[in-house]
Amino acid sequence: MPSIPSILSLLGLATTALSAPNAYPKRAQTVYMAGDSTMAKASGATTGWGVYLPYSLSLPVVNKAIGGRSARSFTVEGRFDEIIKLVQPNDIVIIEFGHNDGGSLTPTDNGRTDCPGAGSETCTSTYNGQTVTVLTYPAYLINAGKALVAKGAKVIVSSPTPNNPWESGTFTYSPSRFTTYSKSAAQQIGSSAMFVDHGQYTANIFKTMGKAKTDALFPSDHTHTSPAGADVVNKAFVKALLCGGGGFLKGFVKNATEGVEGVCV
Ligand SMILES: *[C@@H]1O[C@H](CO)[C@@H](O)[C@H](O)[C@H]1NC(C)=O
Repeated sequence: MPSIPSILSLLGLATTALSAPNAYPKRAQTVYMAGDSTMAKASGATTGWGVYLPYSLSLPVVNKAIGGRSARSFTVEGRFDEIIKLVQPNDIVIIEFGHNDGGSLTPTDNGRTDCPGAGSETCTSTYNGQTVTVLTYPAYLINAGKALVAKGAKVIVSSPTPNNPWESGTFTYSPSRFTTYSKSAAQQIGSSAMFVDHGQYTANIFKTMGKAKTDALFPSDHTHTSPAGADVVNKAFVKALLCGGGGFLKGFVKNATEGVEGVCV
């Protein structure tokens, strides 16, 4: 029979082993999504593409996108900060804005419009009766991206989805400045960030589908898609990712490149 002290030391050992970090299963990497209504879950006639991403990934997906937000308002409301607090090393954060970032700060600042420019320019504005300093779109993404990377996360900056490119009757897609800015922000965040040209891949699928089928995916306006449309927009993202070798999601996409709608460009 073992003595009391030896039982205690066995228990002590067991406790030590349990509290050692590698006694626990490795936490799954988590994918976080930051964006606007084109990514966010909605109920009703339209919804965002973030709803469909989980079906293509073998990782948990947390969709933090919220309608009406811009790079600026997502920052000012502390929504990037919330994700920065949550992320653990090797988590992946997909950032996609642009639909609410344009417009003018004058005569009325709506709290979303960014300071025009591609760099470190700032604007002084009045919002809600307060004097505020407004940064450029790339500056908001770079600030968030660098803070996420400092926590060990990987960042995917994605270009905004196109408005219905068949709206005028003939197909027209020319990337907005937010595509260029997103690409440049990813480069400036550094090697822990990558760019996905989601806008181009989505436009290409809509082009192939033709006007009637594409129009049917935009039930209420030229920006917001039906659930079926959101599924297509998600496929474009997954295709773009796979065509680029998978990037930080390599090995976590359930689908083979050829199995996903669209063509690599
Ligand atoms: C990937 O495959 C799953 C079924 O396994 C499907 O639900 C999903 O839509 C596919 N994703 C894409 C992007 O085609």
